[in-house]
Amino acid sequence: MSKPRLVPDPGAELALAALRPSEYTAALIQVLQAKAAAVRGAKVLEIGSGSGVVLAALGELGAASLCGIDIEEDAVTSGMLLLAELGHGETAELYLGDMWLPVAARRFDLIVANLPHFPMERSDVPGRLPTWSAGGSNGRALLDPFLGGVAAHLAVGGRAIITHNAFVDLERSREILARADLALSVALTTLVYIPEDKLSRISAAVLAVQDGRSIHRYGPYAFGDMHVVEITRHGVAG
Ligand SMILES: C[S@@+](CC[C@H](N)C(=O)[O-])C[C@H]1O[C@@H](n2cnc3c(N)ncnc32)[C@H](O)[C@@H]1O
Repeated sequence: MSKPRLVPDPGAELALAALRPSEYTAALIQVLQAKAAAVRGAKVLEIGSGSGVVLAALGELGAASLCGIDIEEDAVTSGMLLLAELGHGETAELYLGDMWLPVAARRFDLIVANLPHFPMERSDVPGRLPTWSAGGSNGRALLDPFLGGVAAHLAVGGRAIITHNAFVDLERSREILARADLALSVALTTLVYIPEDKLSRISAAVLAVQDGRSIHRYGPYAFGDMHVVEITRHGVAG
């Protein structure tokens, strides 16, 4: 039987371009590589799996099983093709669905996410799908339901690792998690380029507070501080 091909037609090529990894994807994979011991043998879940590349990296690091969820049909198709092509087809399952719904009663050793959490209402960033990066005016439209569901989906001793813009209130995330007896620690902080088509859409309230703090502008160019954070049960070392 011939192997599945990653780019079967021009329409699929367009979908793949829209799902291309970003600097956020790269930073998340960097932290996962640094924590390879936590990945080896783990049952993993990614919410918002996009191209499937983060799951592919987790597979290469030795995860026992790979589960992905995305709201976009193209993402589920592309992810499945990528994982099959890289030899992870047997251990991978991808679901088309919203956030936690497809895995309602299940728990995982490692949950990862690079959610849409850029503080903007308008989501028509050129070259991306509308569901890619907009997190509502404060960036929390998907972040909060994610944080609210983590405890119910972590196995004993499990952890979550997610991207978290520094200009989206980290302390609020810490408080939400603390209510579920979970702790948040910063695993990596890096600087990401904010292209003009995103900067022009950023929520005015966030820019007013964060300009010069976690958003750094040099003439027409802007960068933002971005964290990759780890979420564990209180008392469990990261
Ligand atoms: C910033 S992209 C990250 C994609 C990929 N994980 C990566 O790092 O390259 C966010 C992903 O979340 C998906 N998404 C948006 N809303 C979602 C929802 N309610 N439930 C599941 N996935 C969602 C998008 O389709 C997109 O693939």
